[in-house]
Amino acid sequence: MRPTFRATALFAAFATLASTVQAIPKITREGRYLYKDDGTRFYIKGIAYQEQGVVIQSDENQFGEPSNFIDPLALPDACARDLPFLTELGVNAIRVYSVNSSLNHDDCMTAFSNAGIYAIIDLALPLNGSIDRIVPSWSTNILGQYIKTIDAFSKYDNVLAFNVGNEVVINNGTAVAPYVKAAARDIKAYLKSKSSSVLVGYAAINGPSTFRDPLANYLSCDLSGNNQDSTAIDLYGLNDYSWCGDSSFQNSYAGTFGDYAGYNVAAYLSEFGCVSNPPRLWTESGAIFSSDMSPVWSGGIAFSYFPAESAAGQFGIVTISTDGKTVTTGEDFTRLKTQYNQVTPPDSPAKGSATASTYPACPTTNNTFVASTNLPPTPNEAACGCLLSTLSCRFTPATNNYTAIVGQLLDTACQFVGTYGRLSGCDPTIKLSFVMSQYYQLNDRNSQACSFAGNGTVNPLAPSSISAADAAASSCIANPDATFVPSAPASTGGGASNGGSTSTGNSNSPNGAVRLVGDSNALIGMIAMAFVSIASAAWTLA
Ligand SMILES: *[C@@H]1O[C@H](CO)[C@@H](O)[C@H](O)[C@H]1NC(C)=O
Ligand SMILES: *[C@@H]1O[C@H](CO)[C@@H](O)[C@H](O)[C@H]1NC(C)=O
Ligand SMILES: *[C@@H]1O[C@H](CO)[C@@H](O)[C@H](O)[C@H]1NC(C)=O
Ligand SMILES: *[C@@H]1O[C@H](CO)[C@@H](O)[C@H](O)[C@H]1NC(C)=O
Ligand SMILES: *[C@@H]1O[C@H](CO)[C@@H](O)[C@H](O)[C@H]1NC(C)=O
Ligand SMILES: *[C@@H]1O[C@H](CO)[C@@H](O)[C@H](O)[C@H]1NC(C)=O
Repeated sequence: MRPTFRATALFAAFATLASTVQAIPKITREGRYLYKDDGTRFYIKGIAYQEQGVVIQSDENQFGEPSNFIDPLALPDACARDLPFLTELGVNAIRVYSVNSSLNHDDCMTAFSNAGIYAIIDLALPLNGSIDRIVPSWSTNILGQYIKTIDAFSKYDNVLAFNVGNEVVINNGTAVAPYVKAAARDIKAYLKSKSSSVLVGYAAINGPSTFRDPLANYLSCDLSGNNQDSTAIDLYGLNDYSWCGDSSFQNSYAGTFGDYAGYNVAAYLSEFGCVSNPPRLWTESGAIFSSDMSPVWSGGIAFSYFPAESAAGQFGIVTISTDGKTVTTGEDFTRLKTQYNQVTPPDSPAKGSATASTYPACPTTNNTFVASTNLPPTPNEAACGCLLSTLSCRFTPATNNYTAIVGQLLDTACQFVGTYGRLSGCDPTIKLSFVMSQYYQLNDRNSQACSFAGNGTVNPLAPSSISAADAAASSCIANPDATFVPSAPASTGGGASNGGSTSTGNSNSPNGAVRLVGDSNALIGMIAMAFVSIASAAWTLA
């Protein structure tokens, strides 16, 4: 145990010192390597930096995903408290898994920049802010959230990469990969339109090479067959915990990493630090930063600075006092620090002789790797807004915490409207409104059929006949397959809940459709009925 520490005085000292240091070098990718301005190779020597959110264990949460998050870059006192420890560890990068674009990150980002520390920022958020593995969609709400985060961080000089996903694609779950690649495509186009050189990354789960290797190739391949980079990630991360205890390059890494010998873009270990064979010696960093790995890999991120509990064990290397003021380091901290401070990765190849990337054709689909080379279109906020204006019955939940109430329904609605149909890029609330409108129409626009236990509202401005509604909706999304450079979302909303002037179709009348389902699950029952009705109807936009 080391003595604890008071932040403020030392932080002030750092800040003073920082004003005399040079700006942090810009990092660029050249082929499959990263370089600083001065042409020396850049290796990520980093640590995960995010306090663990609340994890509710359940069958539906097999990955132990948190249901909330604490934005570590919006807490100036905590950053000031931790910065000396990060510096002592010898890191040049942190990985942050979720940030809140509406908060101020100036103090933390500036302090880290002045200390020579880059940030790799994951754009996803827990719950409804990421590409769903089971019911995937690449839609306006997620794209808008990603763009807001990029905009919030574009003023800082130390953002190294934005990750478009973490462990979204899993073994036997490769069908979701096109959504990740579409996200990479659109985020890449957006960054380019802002003249940003921040790298577009993805962090992959490790697993059998039968899906891991084709996925890596798929994310960095070119769909056009013309050696273009427009749908390729820049930075591939592998979350790899295969080095446990006192191991060696040959025993832990050689097999896996041989598979990446010809990889075309930059790669790093987006997480490492196995806890299954304690104590953690962190000797893998000797291998990661050696010439055994440097031909393909550009460093890694140790997991984790803060305590992080999982079924596998405890991953943190410090503890924070309950008042949040003091940091206590453990032996894990000391061992990682020792290892990190003694690595000297090879400064080769020279920037001038790094081979430019080529972007090969994408892996073909088979039984074990089913990712289509047909990507979802760019989510189109204007088209979805237009579509919403044509819908006769809208989902208007009483609470904006609607995902907790109707998450399952949203999933069902999303499945119903199909994979790449005209609606596929729209906010889930619009998809649900679409289904509700269908049901309302099929019930001859009886206002009861738009009640959905108080969750639905009639839109009096919608076209009155089914064919007119269909025509209007189709004209909103004239070109459903379009890809284009996205722009920042127009409003902060994006849901259906504030969709203009509406009159309520709700009443307490015992007659009509609402009577059919009288229990507390009214909405769920009604929507289920809507699905059944619509499944046999012809009216569809898909
Ligand atoms: C972001 O922070 C704002 C202001 O505290 C809060 O209202 C909002 O709910 C936060 N967003 C998320 C996604 O946590
Ligand atoms: C993937 O599918 C194969 C064959 O169907 C099965 O043996 C294996 O257990 C599955 N793996 C996972 C992680 O579900
Ligand atoms: C499936 O395709 C991938 C990518 O093309 C390939 O790596 C893998 O070996 C193939 N698997 C089988 C069982 O053919
Ligand atoms: C997630 O749900 C909240 C309400 O629970 C909403 O405010 C937010 O916009 C949603 N985020 C996305 C990306 O859909
Ligand atoms: C959202 O609703 C769920 C279930 O009703 C509740 O447990 C949760 O605390 C709510 N979250 C917020 C932020 O209101
Ligand atoms: C909306 O639907 C939910 C889920 O069925 C239900 O609990 C709620 O009472 C409904 N009405 C309103 C106004 O939220």
